[in-house]
Amino acid sequence: PLVPTRELVSKAAAAGRAVAAFNVITLEHAEAITAGAAAAGAPGVILQISENAVRFHGGRVEPIARAAAEVGKACDVDVALHMDHVTDMRLLRTAADAGFSSAMFDAGAQPYAENLAATRAAAQWAHGAGLWLEAELGYVGGKPDAPASAHAAGVRTDPQEAARYVADTGVDALAVAVGSSHAMTERSATLDHALIERLREAVPVPLVLHGSSGVGDDDLRQAVQAGIVKINIGTALNVAFTGAVREALGARPDLTDPRPYVAQGRETMAETVRVLLGVVSG
Ligand code: G3H
Ligand code: ZN
Repeated sequence: PLVPTRELVSKAAAAGRAVAAFNVITLEHAEAITAGAAAAGAPGVILQISENAVRFHGGRVEPIARAAAEVGKACDVDVALHMDHVTDMRLLRTAADAGFSSAMFDAGAQPYAENLAATRAAAQWAHGAGLWLEAELGYVGGKPDAPASAHAAGVRTDPQEAARYVADTGVDALAVAVGSSHAMTERSATLDHALIERLREAVPVPLVLHGSSGVGDDDLRQAVQAGIVKINIGTALNVAFTGAVREALGARPDLTDPRPYVAQGRETMAETVRVLLGVVSG
């Protein structure tokens, strides 16, 4: 069934575990994530659709959001729908109508004062529309317009600044820069677990880890222990999908019907989800 993101996140926080949020690009991603979550016996999972993914679908949010919502409703596991990495307020305004219960407003690339003002306005609007709002402070690098890498000095989230930012913006969760970076295809990121602990002590709302595809199992487990409550994973599914499709096409040059190779991609994504959920919400 579909449940609000707020509910999944607060249950996870209360139980001292994390809830995973996987990025949905196609219908098959949504099917694979819910199948993987059911196979893992996970208490819940978040399907998140990014502004980038909406752009891929011609700028129209409804078709992919509706597909994800229908897949979520039919699943035995609790599923929440989250709009991810929104930079355009116009897109945020479509979120509630399109069935999302939450969104991440991404002003993380902006200087502090601009980030604060834009995020405060976004949070006020979101709360008026009944949406749970996540924001980012510090900068998790790796996106195409990234000004700096999260591995570079000076872009990690500062605990005191983060506490002030959350109080001044009123956001419900905070994405933090603690060593992960977006779009890594190898799991070689090193997280600053001591910083995560300091952030957890200073910040009263749940902490979110972005770029989690680049983080290994042990680091993910430690991050949850240190206080991360929502774990965002995108690239790992695309690595799984594209690898499986490439293999299927290579093995059968005669294929024309997309179903056999797309199915193989979907199964491989589902297995990746099952394994990752065993790590982060087990
Ligand atoms: O918001 C989405 C996540 O941060 C995904 O990052 O693709 O590097 O796993 P990733
Ligand atoms: Zn992200």
